[in-house]
Amino acid sequence: MNPDELRQAVAGIRWYHRMDLGHGIVTPGESDTFRVLPRLRFPDSFRGMTVLDVGAWDGFYSFEAERRGADRVLATDHFCWRGAGWGTKQGFDLAHRVLNSRVEALEIDVIDLSPETVGTFDVVLFTGVLYHMRHPLLALERVASVTRRWLILETAVDMLWVRRPALAFYPGDELHHDPTNWWAPNHSALRGMLETVGFRKIEVVFRQSLLHRVGRAAKQRLEGRGGFVRGLGQGRTVVHAWR
Ligand SMILES: C[S@@+](CC[C@H](N)C(=O)[O-])C[C@H]1O[C@@H](n2cnc3c(N)ncnc32)[C@H](O)[C@@H]1O
Repeated sequence: MNPDELRQAVAGIRWYHRMDLGHGIVTPGESDTFRVLPRLRFPDSFRGMTVLDVGAWDGFYSFEAERRGADRVLATDHFCWRGAGWGTKQGFDLAHRVLNSRVEALEIDVIDLSPETVGTFDVVLFTGVLYHMRHPLLALERVASVTRRWLILETAVDMLWVRRPALAFYPGDELHHDPTNWWAPNHSALRGMLETVGFRKIEVVFRQSLLHRVGRAAKQRLEGRGGFVRGLGQGRTVVHAWR
């Protein structure tokens, strides 16, 4: 595929991930992966490790794990890849071809993950997916069942001023006007849920500062997208958990 053909193919896809496909072509994804990636605290090298990316969509993090030397990477998704979601698998397939990738792909629902269906992996990536789950504890149980060692989890969090374990429930489209967002835990709940499904060491490696949350809550309030106090209790967090 020459650069003009690639540019044309890229323009025909609704991207989620910003991805550098070479020839100066960066996909116009809404998720600024170059900003998010450092928050995930990937190791410099995944050499000697197998990696499962759950809810991979365009696959940026799967391709990054491959680039960092993972022995094997399996990218999975369901909602988007089945075509029922906000996007499709077209972006993943195009990037896979252009990057000459060996990342494997499987369309499977989080709830169907098990050692029997996918096997087990040294590292599991579960980023931006937990709050889309109708049954988050069950989803984490399934994710834990296929994690041999290390889970890298990124999620929306809420109720941050509550000390007891608590999850905010969004029966409508309260979180970011997206009806597929169901629940967001606070840190205490996230820790408790991870312990409940069998993780023993849990470390929060990224959380948004209070200053950042104040700025975002004020902007949300000014744009009529929600109350200031509620916004203040919301953010994003990255956790590393080990079995
Ligand atoms: C916000 S995107 C996150 C994409 C990517 N993991 C990231 O961090 O940028 C949520 C992803 O979860 C997927 N997803 C939602 N529900 C799912 C389910 N039940 N099973 C598998 N994937 C699901 C969506 O298709 C979408 O790709």
